[in-house]
Amino acid sequence: MVLRDLELRHFRNLGVQTLRFPPEGVAVIGDNAQGKTNLLEAIYYLECFRSFRGARDAELTAFSEDVFHVKGVLEGERPVTVAAGFDGSGKAKKVSVDGKEAPRFSAAFGRLGAMIFAPADVDLVSGGPARRRQFLDVVLSLNRSGYVKALQSYRKALAQRNAALRTGANPQAARAWDGTLVEHGARVTCLRAEWAAAWAEPFASYCSAISGGDRAALAYRADVGTAGDGAEAGAESGGSGAGVVGVVGGGDAVGAAAATGEAGEAQVAEAYRRRLAESWPSDVRRQRTTAGPHRDDLILTVEAPGRRVPVRAFGSGGQRRTAALALRLVEAATIRQQRGTEPILLLDDAFAELDDGRSQRVVALVEEESAGQVVLTAPSESDVRLRRPSLARWRIRGGVIEA
Ligand SMILES: Nc1ncnc2c1ncn2[C@@H]1O[C@H](COP(=O)(O)OP(=O)(O)O)[C@@H](O)[C@H]1O
Ligand SMILES: [Mg+2]
Repeated sequence: MVLRDLELRHFRNLGVQTLRFPPEGVAVIGDNAQGKTNLLEAIYYLECFRSFRGARDAELTAFSEDVFHVKGVLEGERPVTVAAGFDGSGKAKKVSVDGKEAPRFSAAFGRLGAMIFAPADVDLVSGGPARRRQFLDVVLSLNRSGYVKALQSYRKALAQRNAALRTGANPQAARAWDGTLVEHGARVTCLRAEWAAAWAEPFASYCSAISGGDRAALAYRADVGTAGDGAEAGAESGGSGAGVVGVVGGGDAVGAAAATGEAGEAQVAEAYRRRLAESWPSDVRRQRTTAGPHRDDLILTVEAPGRRVPVRAFGSGGQRRTAALALRLVEAATIRQQRGTEPILLLDDAFAELDDGRSQRVVALVEEESAGQVVLTAPSESDVRLRRPSLARWRIRGGVIEA
């Protein structure tokens, strides 16, 4: 997909503007606090109808306005227009595709096929497991049919089960949700694990390419299937608990095969059922569900002399930024593979905190891998770095873009 036109009305400080993007992309250059990130935020808003920075819609509305609109015209196999509007007075958000209002936002997700990378993404690596689950949830919601539905059903069952546990009077009532929880939870677990297993290898090569040789790895650690917790469960089902969904272990076990297909999912469901039974006493005590994919993590490791260590705790600043960028590149590759379209890369000051060697290797990677549109921001011309000499340059000042 290629973003051709972008219409902005009162999104952050961007005022009322219509921009026509070159098919190859553009480098947007401007000082701090002029609106560079806001522009990428507006574009990515059309991908999943919320701020990639986690801002609330009210915060995206220009100061002194109640309503914002963003509309994008995309060119691809078939042209498509995606629009979103938010009215703060009624707290109402509307999303439309080709002028037809989407019944659910998820029905309109992922029309751009865009990936966004920003320096703050280092918290994908440095942050807690919730941040990485969120990453997986976004990537899979946009790229894997059935994921959104499974995740929503899982969350709903989880919330209801927890509510029943909290009332305390009759905790047994909570168990009524176990069936739904297990069904959708197993689905969520398997789709995430499958994704991690499929992309472990590319992740490792991206890390190695950017860092110039670091050996990094990615693996999904599923609460229902990890070695310790599920040991007996695994033995019963004729394998190790860890093998059920692929789990981080010593060295080479990283990125082990994921359970796929119905058989794999049935195994995971069985393991989850057992985990729920085991953890029932602690669920009652803590008044919440303590087992399930809401406790999973994506484990990122790097090889240090003699051992493999989590990047989160032991990686250098450069290694963390590298792993974060590699995750985003994997996300872009997922779009390319799953949707069969060349992803639009939104790179927000992408080279800001990478050393020269890493920056150059990233540039080489992007040039080599991605033939699609690139919208990048940089504080000055010398930070643009991407070789494409013909890449247009726009200036931005006080939210106003001069093409
Ligand atoms: N809701 C809003 N309405 C108007 N201006 C806003 C809003 N939110 C942020 N801004 C302004 O946007 C600017 C920051 O934009 P940003 O895109 O983050 O800058 P940068 O160019 O450094 O990436 C600040 O000047 C801030 O005041
Ligand atoms: Mg910025």
